[in-house]
Amino acid sequence: MSYRQKHLLAIEGLEPPAIAHLLDLAESYVLLNRSGRTQRDLLRGRTLINLFFEDSTRTRTSFELAGKRLGADVINMSVSTSSVNKGETLLDTAWTLNAMHCDLLVVRHGESGAPALLAQKVDAAVINAGDGTHEHPTQALLDALTIRRRKGRIEGLAVAICGDVLHSRVARSNIHLLTTLGCDVRVVGPATLLPAEVERLGVRAFHDMRAGLEGADIVMMLRLQKERMARGLVPSAREYFRFWGLDAEKLGYAKKDALVMHPGPMNRGVEIDSEVADDPARSVIKEQVEMGVAVRMAVLDTLSRSGRNDA
Ligand code: NCD
Repeated sequence: MSYRQKHLLAIEGLEPPAIAHLLDLAESYVLLNRSGRTQRDLLRGRTLINLFFEDSTRTRTSFELAGKRLGADVINMSVSTSSVNKGETLLDTAWTLNAMHCDLLVVRHGESGAPALLAQKVDAAVINAGDGTHEHPTQALLDALTIRRRKGRIEGLAVAICGDVLHSRVARSNIHLLTTLGCDVRVVGPATLLPAEVERLGVRAFHDMRAGLEGADIVMMLRLQKERMARGLVPSAREYFRFWGLDAEKLGYAKKDALVMHPGPMNRGVEIDSEVADDPARSVIKEQVEMGVAVRMAVLDTLSRSGRNDA
């Protein structure tokens, strides 16, 4: 098997064969899910804990569904970090989880690096479900699967990642994955919302939607993450939409058959207009959600096997 790590903490550092393995396996789970069948023997007797220190709807439910379709016992733990010392909570949590003999631990946390820290402290295989502004590896995998199924390939495509790149772990994971697989990746947004020296990641930066979208096969919109902004980095929602919001006119700058993506949750009328978000001819946003379950099944399957090899 070409995926050899115990955990899935980041896309950065994964080689193309490891990514291809996860996507190919996910492809088979798309077919299984569409057939309405399950494969409950695979994780029977295994415990999957969803440990969420930050809100989530689609990521948590899709890990839950993925675990259940493979037969795992799934437990959801939501932890508020508002009034407690975060470092202490994390280590306490690690001890508790070890005592419970958890096999697979899915972690979302507001601090970058928290899942990696937990991975050092627990016996379980750890999956990063989003850490601060760092990475969200399963989101990038489900985006790649969506792209590959629609376009028949990933290599050589032009992908424009637009908006609040600065705060987006989705953008970071996608940049690593898509550049590793040979895409022409552009990031497009106001200077205040693009990380300094982002071009070091192998992408081109644009401060204009027309220039950034020209010739794009994929237009990936990002949510404006107000909760991560210490100060106002954008003037007003209305003005943001005028310059950076994707509507039919701006989509016209991209290729005629360009696909529209968004990881959700969407701020309609801020970074994306409902007209394009809901256009079945252009938008694959619903399909991204479907691919999310298949990708997470592939990840759980793969990590449960590499765990067995270690033992
Ligand atoms: C993303 C996240 O949490 O990083 N959402 C998700 O996982 N579907 C993106 C976001 O919050 O904007």
